[in-house]
Amino acid sequence: MLLSNERVIILDSGSPYVQILARRVRECGVFSQVVPGHLSAEEIQNLAPKGILHTDDCSEVKNFAQLDIPAFAVPLPVDKAQVEKFLRDDCGCRCDWNMKKYAEQAVEQIKEQVGEGQVICGLSGGVDSAVVAALVSKAIGKRLKCIFVDHGLLRKGEADSVEAAFSKHFDIDFRKIDAADGFLERLAGVEEPQEKRRRIGHYFIDVFAQAAQDANDSEDGSGGAVRFLAQGTIYPDIIESMAKIDRETGKPLEAIKLHHNVGGLPEKLGFQLVEPLRQLFKDEVRQLGLELGLAEDFVWRHPFPGPGLAVRCLGEVTREKLAKLREADAIVVEEIHKAGLYRQVSQAFAVLLPVKSVGVSNGLRTYDDAVAVRCVKTDDFMTADWSVLPTDLLKTISSRIISEVDGVNRVVYDISTKPPATIEWE
Ligand code: XMP
Repeated sequence: MLLSNERVIILDSGSPYVQILARRVRECGVFSQVVPGHLSAEEIQNLAPKGILHTDDCSEVKNFAQLDIPAFAVPLPVDKAQVEKFLRDDCGCRCDWNMKKYAEQAVEQIKEQVGEGQVICGLSGGVDSAVVAALVSKAIGKRLKCIFVDHGLLRKGEADSVEAAFSKHFDIDFRKIDAADGFLERLAGVEEPQEKRRRIGHYFIDVFAQAAQDANDSEDGSGGAVRFLAQGTIYPDIIESMAKIDRETGKPLEAIKLHHNVGGLPEKLGFQLVEPLRQLFKDEVRQLGLELGLAEDFVWRHPFPGPGLAVRCLGEVTREKLAKLREADAIVVEEIHKAGLYRQVSQAFAVLLPVKSVGVSNGLRTYDDAVAVRCVKTDDFMTADWSVLPTDLLKTISSRIISEVDGVNRVVYDISTKPPATIEWE
């Protein structure tokens, strides 16, 4: 996907610093692309970059030494001014790449790719799929069919807010599928976290496939009108799933993370993929969302896992437990907002624990549930720190949960970093 004729490449040496460097270049107004470090001189030449950046420990310099392309061996840590100087003085870049341009070019590319075809997009309620839908709808209007599967594992008010954000503000074909009963049936009696995820994942594919089929049938009766699936794969997914080469053996290493968005759907349903965010980092996706007219609140939402509250309702998932968790979670999020901390923290939520403990209320013994509050700060979600929240805020969250959520008599705050803990509890 060629998005700018002014592009520099960054050789992937396997260092996490490569992503930071790619962002630094984009902040200077030049489109950057991370490429495998082992590309041959010919492959680099074909990309026609205006410059090459690599970390100064990169051993692949021999691959492009003979090319007449300016190169910069970047020391740790380089500042933005030095990068900009290289881009302007050595590469002759204009440094005028921005999100408005990206949006315009991406819309043109979507039009070109899709032609007169129809596109299906699964909305999850998250930022990435919302931005994809906004972009594709700008390109092809109502030929985009958005499918939002309500699996009954959403936060309080979530389904309504997604529906409101889309059906009121965008002129798109929005289809909400209420599948809560089916998901809960499949989760009945299941306690093991991986098994919960597996069942949710499989049933999600079934429900989505049926909805896609229905959208297809309702289109023109011919079947086969919808041929494309738009999805929110973002750049870190691509970089992390890019094949790396073992320097010792020269053999490919296993990718850190396989590209996991809507796993298995395209192959199963025979769609061609439309992935207009493949080149963007998360903060750029947010900027693009704002550029396309999505509301600030929507664009700054915290990530929410695909299996939803099922992985925060430990042990068996039941309607009653979900209702309790939903109330506790809404209090956590509301109080974090009120304290003006929502954007400072990366994720804030409640977890319903599978333990009962003894308490006392109005002089009588209680034996009720416990809720954990989790609030973390992270840049990349691969590592995370627990957030030090103001004591008054913790007090308010705790006393509100205990007094407002029936059947909960204890609240604890999770002070575990990732690693070794994960952000989610299951
Ligand atoms: P963990 O718990 O692995 O989470 O530290 C890292 C980030 O990923 C989110 N997460 C998921 N997102 N499907 C998703 O779309 C999932 O199955 C899933 N599991 C975890 C989690 O909320 C955090 O942002």
